[in-house]
Amino acid sequence: MNSTFKNEIHQGLSSDPKTLPSKYFYDKKGDALFVEIMNLPEYYLTRSELDIFQNKTQELIESFGVQKNSYFELIELGAGDGTKTKELLKVLDQENYNFDYFPIDISANALALLKEDLNTEIPNLNVQTQEGDYFKILASLKNSKQPKVVLFLGSNIGNMNDSLASTFIYNLGVNLQAGDKILLGVDLIKTQDIVLPAYNDSKGITAKFNLNLLDRINNELGANFDLSNFVHQPEYTQKEGIAKSYIVSTANITVTIKATGKSYTFTKGEKIHTEISRKYNDAILNKIIENTDFVLQHKITDEKEYFADYILERN
Ligand code: AVI
Repeated sequence: MNSTFKNEIHQGLSSDPKTLPSKYFYDKKGDALFVEIMNLPEYYLTRSELDIFQNKTQELIESFGVQKNSYFELIELGAGDGTKTKELLKVLDQENYNFDYFPIDISANALALLKEDLNTEIPNLNVQTQEGDYFKILASLKNSKQPKVVLFLGSNIGNMNDSLASTFIYNLGVNLQAGDKILLGVDLIKTQDIVLPAYNDSKGITAKFNLNLLDRINNELGANFDLSNFVHQPEYTQKEGIAKSYIVSTANITVTIKATGKSYTFTKGEKIHTEISRKYNDAILNKIIENTDFVLQHKITDEKEYFADYILERN
């Protein structure tokens, strides 16, 4: 059993208000539920970014500032199944750009599947899969001194608060050189009637995704959460621009976790905060990168202007 997991769960459930880290959503079942979420009609984020990759491919490539005759490295943080990136890779390949693709992921299985798929679809492409921690791998790639474009898509940065996002981007800069780029995909601030359903779908998949965290604690830490006593609750206001997910207790209950040897009480209506999904605009992003070595160089949006891919350039 993973002691960091145990300690973070104990800490979160002992805090007031209670919290649980969203990074623990992603076990095997959580991964599968997230794939279902990405295909939901209400979850516009993935489709919006795909629209950019399909229809604004030339603008994306121009923003990289790379020449056809000089080599660069295209690195992707958390590559997943590469659906969006494939659109870009195909065009770069057809137009004879000189580059290698370095997808980084913590899942060796996801990387193996991605490599197999790319080898079939784009046989010329050199795919150098990298399994493990983003920063360790970037530090090792830094030795090559080759120009780099780093993709961080899907508004994954939105699951960090602004201070963590700022530190994250600063640390990317430590491992890059002047002129290198980050392509940062973020969800834009918009009205509640569009954002809230994306986190509260009619099929209840997002609810399952959120509550799966309790199942995971039951399975991995020997807890006795009865999931029928908890419900998913999303919140969002356009003013704040942050979608928040909670698990709410519907009764007064006590749960015991064998691995921590402790009991935790929940009062009826008590909220456990599990996730933030930050939405952005230019001002918020500029503030986040203010103390990093990056400047905002370009912004590409989808047709509906729901989502943006920002190009940040390292000074
Ligand atoms: C992975 N991340 C960008 C998703 C999001 O939109 O915050 C995770 C998610 N949570 C609920 N639905 C999707």
